[in-house]
Amino acid sequence: MARFIDELKRSHTCGELRLSDVDAEVVLMGWVQRTRDRGGVIFVDLRDRDGLTQVTFDKSEDEAAFTIAGQLRSEYVIAVRGTVRDRGEQRNDKMPTGGIEVVGHEVEILNTAKTPVFPIQEEVNATEETRLAHRYLDLRRPILQRNLRMRAKAYHATRNVLAEHGFIEVETPYLVKYTPGGARNFLVPSRSPGNFYALAESPQLFKQLLMVAGYDRYFQIVRCFRDEDLRGDRQPEFTQIDIEMSFVNQDDVFSICEKLVFRLWKEVLGVDLSERYPDGTFPRLRFEDSMRLYGNDKPDRRFDLHHTDLTALTVEHAGGGIGMLEPLAAKFADGTYRVDLPEEIVKAMRVPADHPMSRKQVDELEAYVKTMGAKGLGRAKVGDDGAWTQSPFAKQVTDGFRLAVNEACGAQPGDLILLMFGDEQLVHTCMANLRLKLGKDLGLIPGFGSGDDWNLLWVVDPPLFERGEQKDTWVAAHHPFTRPHDACVDSITSDPGTVLCHRYDLVLNGVEIAGGSIRLHDSEVQAKVFSAIGLSEEEAKEKFSFLLEGLQHGAPPHGGIAFGFDRLAMLLTESESLRDVLAFPKTARGNDLMTGAPGPVDDRQLADLKIKTV
Ligand code: AMO
Repeated sequence: MARFIDELKRSHTCGELRLSDVDAEVVLMGWVQRTRDRGGVIFVDLRDRDGLTQVTFDKSEDEAAFTIAGQLRSEYVIAVRGTVRDRGEQRNDKMPTGGIEVVGHEVEILNTAKTPVFPIQEEVNATEETRLAHRYLDLRRPILQRNLRMRAKAYHATRNVLAEHGFIEVETPYLVKYTPGGARNFLVPSRSPGNFYALAESPQLFKQLLMVAGYDRYFQIVRCFRDEDLRGDRQPEFTQIDIEMSFVNQDDVFSICEKLVFRLWKEVLGVDLSERYPDGTFPRLRFEDSMRLYGNDKPDRRFDLHHTDLTALTVEHAGGGIGMLEPLAAKFADGTYRVDLPEEIVKAMRVPADHPMSRKQVDELEAYVKTMGAKGLGRAKVGDDGAWTQSPFAKQVTDGFRLAVNEACGAQPGDLILLMFGDEQLVHTCMANLRLKLGKDLGLIPGFGSGDDWNLLWVVDPPLFERGEQKDTWVAAHHPFTRPHDACVDSITSDPGTVLCHRYDLVLNGVEIAGGSIRLHDSEVQAKVFSAIGLSEEEAKEKFSFLLEGLQHGAPPHGGIAFGFDRLAMLLTESESLRDVLAFPKTARGNDLMTGAPGPVDDRQLADLKIKTV
């Protein structure tokens, strides 16, 4: 029988002991953070997930223990029996256990360890590749321990809130039938030659069918798989808090999400969001306004800088004397200009005078938008009399247009107006990114702890359709089972571009943390939607087979949403990347550097699956 573990049980964690424990006999177990030999006395910092405790071994008191302590190296796993002692003058106020030390009477090396590839501490110099390849060491670092524990608290809070509101947790399959459209699926070969499963990109179809089956108020904390181009806030496998409800409208879905977010912030961070949102709801912004003011559908509204759409004004002023704007203005000269139609737009952004920018800085901004495909970035410094200087347009612009632009932008003397025109999508993207860049560069984004650190926002009422690749064709902007506004149903056939729908996103500090919709359960409206996107009944059946069939068996009105759980955890822990809140993440190229996935398999396996003949 082993002395430690079998006989002597761990009495405390390494973050637990305080002055009130002085004289207690304790047993600690953990990893050696570091040792210091002061001739006759050896100090060992012992670490576990709770913290660090100093253990001292004194040759004159316990020679046997002292001898073993002399053999300890970083990351050895040890067990210690000892007595808690007041450190007196030697107290270390920076450590929670810094008032005491444990005088070691008995110690055992439970396991040795190789010299770690990088030291286990808050800041390390090792590259992210090295850290990911030795993730078990990286995960010992306090920052990751903290993040994953906060993440665990978020799971608990989520389950508690949803259970309290009558939700039931149901699991749905990961191995599913491939359906075209949506995110790109990972394929999994099956034992039936030529037939593949897909890994579910979300439980969307299943959760709708659960509503048909009467499992109202479903939720699941579920892994989703998408073979997409990865960025800092995307992983090929990620976790959703997936929710679906019956007999609800958009407000009902929002209400449960708001309760969930309030509780998460309270339980994980101890932050009371009601100081910022006293009525318990988050503001709503229409999709169209979001695009007009910020150029995207996930605006970071912690700072005010916004866009001004000058397209109508440009048309009205026939280009305002600026040669480059004339073709755009001429397009709409016959009076057919409509906000929802233009494929080319003109946008401006006003940088206030209290953030002066040099010519060189503006040149850098221009170079920045060019990396995204823009041809250039117009600029004008507004003078005392409203005149434009330092502008390529200064000589051409008509007085009327110049003053109208100044007024539309709310420009004051000393302000800088940045201008861009061209393809609608490109202008929105460039100007949205430019806004974010300026927000960061000019220090406009408030830091955490400033009181304005959590900016939550619903983006609502987006269009149901967007233009297809071929002229005059339409495709579903999200998916064709999203319910249009009742007032728009008649326009589905006559004017699809104007149809708005009950689709919504929840945005936090410029990150989309959740998205969902009220679903279409009415087969008549459904038929109209399919016809607008040019899908025949047969094609629809083929494409959406079991969902379409299921919806015809008494589907209740229903709707739902999914939170990106990793993104939530990233924001809650103030991390920069999803990798900081996942135990075993993948790189931007989708590789697991520790296990080597994805890796090759041998020809025999491929032959068994009839993927390759040998
Ligand atoms: P959607 O595709 O908007 O909706 O996804 C919901 C939320 O999941 C997060 N997310 C991701 N997080 C990390 N890595 C990724 N690759 C990734 N992709 C998405 C985002 C997003 O807001 N079935 C619908 C939900 C519904 O309609 O109910 C869905 O999956 O935070």
